[in-house]
Amino acid sequence: MINIAIDGPAGSGKSTVSEILGKKLDVLCLDTGAMYRACALKCIKEGVPADNEIEVGKLVDAIDLKVEYRKGAQRTVLDGKDVSEEIRLPQVSMVASTVSAYAAVRKKMVGLQREIASRNSCILNGRDIGTNVLPDAEFKFYLTASPEVRAKRRFDENVQKGFKESYNDILNDIIKRDEQDKSRKIAPLAKADDAVLVDSSLMSVEEVVEFMLNIVTKKLK
Ligand code: DC
Repeated sequence: MINIAIDGPAGSGKSTVSEILGKKLDVLCLDTGAMYRACALKCIKEGVPADNEIEVGKLVDAIDLKVEYRKGAQRTVLDGKDVSEEIRLPQVSMVASTVSAYAAVRKKMVGLQREIASRNSCILNGRDIGTNVLPDAEFKFYLTASPEVRAKRRFDENVQKGFKESYNDILNDIIKRDEQDKSRKIAPLAKADDAVLVDSSLMSVEEVVEFMLNIVTKKLK
């Protein structure tokens, strides 16, 4: 069994790279951001303000959140409903970043993540996998790119999904979220000392995958 941690800021390409790498290595992928997004979506639906830590804590205590895999693809099921698409709405991102700073939210999500990782070989992507969730993961990567490159990638993705958000709004959101994710007290976004840094600003997805695959397969041989 192996676990691979891929951390990095919003829009660094973690999910895309993880999915391709997961297929090549025939292991599951767990996008941990989806779980924080599900918690955020529940707050939005139930009218719980993201800045009310006590109320968010109560909500997360009672949350019915499941991660399922259909044809190898991760599905996020909240209160019995598949919300995998809904959690990607732009308005969910900042709420997810805010609620992910709370101890009660992190405790719940990290517990679920460790449980899945202990049962399966998988690639977990997020912000604190290498530093906190799986400090003993066999492989650790920290994937990043300039804010402008990340905003452009997210903009192109959103156009395909039909979401209308301007490039400038996306860039501002990314910068604000980076700041919030890096400066929180519990398990902030950070590169683990033993993680391999990959700056994908000038690399294609294929090049990033190839680079990581080389490192993993060399060691597994
Ligand atoms: O990866 P993403 O953009 O879908 O994540 C949404 C938010 O969730 C992100 O701004 C911070 C939080 N998050 C976290 O705190 N820890 C993780 N392991 C993954 C995401």
